[in-house]
Amino acid sequence: MRRDSCKCEPLRLNRCGTASCPHVVQAPTVIAMVGLPARGKTFMSKKLTRYLNWIGIRTKAFNVGDYRRAATTEKCHDFFRADNIEAEDLRNKCALMAIDDACKFLRDGGEVAVVDATNTTRDRRKLLVELICENNNFKLFFVESICDDPEIIEANILEVKVCSPDYSGMDKTEAMQDFLQRIEHYREHYESMDYSYDKNLSFIQIFNQGERFLVNKLAGHLQSRVVYYLMNIHVLPRTIYLTRHGESQMNLQGRIGGDSDLSTRGWEYANALAKFVEQEKIPNLRVWTSEMKRTMQTAQHINAPKAHWKALNEIDAGICEGMTYEEIADKYPEEFAKRDQDKFHYRYPTGESYQDLVSRLEPVIMELERQENVMVVCHQAVARCLLAYFQDKTSEDLTYLKVPLHTVIKLTPVAYGCRVEFKYLNIEAVNTHREKPKNVSLNRSKEEALSTVPPNPAVNDVERHSPGER
Ligand SMILES: *[C@@H]1O[C@H](CO)[C@@H](O)[C@H](O)[C@H]1NC(C)=O
Ligand SMILES: *[C@@H]1O[C@H](CO)[C@@H](O)[C@H](O)[C@H]1NC(C)=O
Ligand SMILES: *[C@@H]1O[C@H](CO)[C@@H](O)[C@H](O)[C@H]1NC(C)=O
Ligand SMILES: *[C@@H]1O[C@H](CO)[C@@H](O)[C@H](O)[C@H]1NC(C)=O
Repeated sequence: MRRDSCKCEPLRLNRCGTASCPHVVQAPTVIAMVGLPARGKTFMSKKLTRYLNWIGIRTKAFNVGDYRRAATTEKCHDFFRADNIEAEDLRNKCALMAIDDACKFLRDGGEVAVVDATNTTRDRRKLLVELICENNNFKLFFVESICDDPEIIEANILEVKVCSPDYSGMDKTEAMQDFLQRIEHYREHYESMDYSYDKNLSFIQIFNQGERFLVNKLAGHLQSRVVYYLMNIHVLPRTIYLTRHGESQMNLQGRIGGDSDLSTRGWEYANALAKFVEQEKIPNLRVWTSEMKRTMQTAQHINAPKAHWKALNEIDAGICEGMTYEEIADKYPEEFAKRDQDKFHYRYPTGESYQDLVSRLEPVIMELERQENVMVVCHQAVARCLLAYFQDKTSEDLTYLKVPLHTVIKLTPVAYGCRVEFKYLNIEAVNTHREKPKNVSLNRSKEEALSTVPPNPAVNDVERHSPGER
């Protein structure tokens, strides 16, 4: 087999393809990170892994540093010297273990493995081509992060390295010095991707965290999607605010969907939200709503530029639009049970599934990545999908995430993840959260089907739950 080629036949249809986006993964793919330490490789590999899983591509990251930390407690920079033979053996062993596990994951049905390692010599890339393409027929895509701006590097070290498990308990300046020396040891071996040697490989080079890009031999849909994503993300500090619309007339009646106006308390929330935004003093805030009345009314008093997205509209409940859970249980008991059995994939007849919703929301996520401070005023199911992306939740968990009314969810990026704060604005609202019932059989009784429906205020006016108390 030719050493330089990495061509594989289309193997299988992705289980998670949807009507609107029937993506076919040509072959399992290894994405190999390249670059010196503190170039944001782990940040990118974690973020990319989260994104690919969210759009329904089974992805896992393999971090060689984690393997090394499991194998040795050595962490002083001397360990990383080029002439430390024993340590070099161990480092190579860890890298091979990570690659091996990545291939195992792909053989067991995984679709993308992100290998996050530091050793980035030409020889090592040759080895990767052998192990991944020739022995396994997987595709291989390199992502190299190149950075010569000392400010970016220092910020990276401070943000994620000095606080990393390698340096717990060490003085900050000392840790910084040690880390800079560690980078120097790596630099002795480092060979950047280079067209004259690597022209047959598929890769992207990212300069100074997105100032400039160079893409070579892009092979297939998945790789172009990865490139598109990497070209859109940024690392500027910012905050995303997520909220549902204020309580609506139909919420009060326990009805799903529709396009009703806000209730009196919903309008109170709209006022409170505008005040909240004013108090937060958010620079250059943009407000996005859906095209439904209840979200536009909720955002009405906020003093900031607004955009209305059809893609943010609530999940289309098809034949069940405007019904109460009681009515659905009466009229379509089997549909109701099927939804409880697999809420993520279940599609309302003539409507949508959560899975459809995720593909509809992908452009929203992409644009959110490009923007800075944004407040998204949306709906329960939509907010669950967006929150799942930021919190790295599985599709099963996604459908039961708690997103109470009259609560602002503040998302702040930190190191490798996102801090999530729930701010209840102290205006009562109905509870719209229905847990998964114990019994999901088609022959269950109506009582069992309705056992987790939140109290319906139109039926039972005494029970009112404020979101903060649940
Ligand atoms: C990097 O990998 C190459 C080839 O696999 C190996 O010869 C070299 O010793 C490794 N260097 C480090 C610092 O791990
Ligand atoms: C790249 O591929 C071509 C054709 O497959 C081959 O002739 C060439 O030697 C390869 N170049 C390198 C640097 O491997
Ligand atoms: C209901 O269906 C379950 C399987 O889903 C079965 O075990 C059970 O016996 C059925 N019960 C009745 C009352 O038909
Ligand atoms: C669900 O309800 C059906 C009918 O009442 C019953 O036969 C079945 O055992 C119940 N399943 C569970 C898991 O409770």
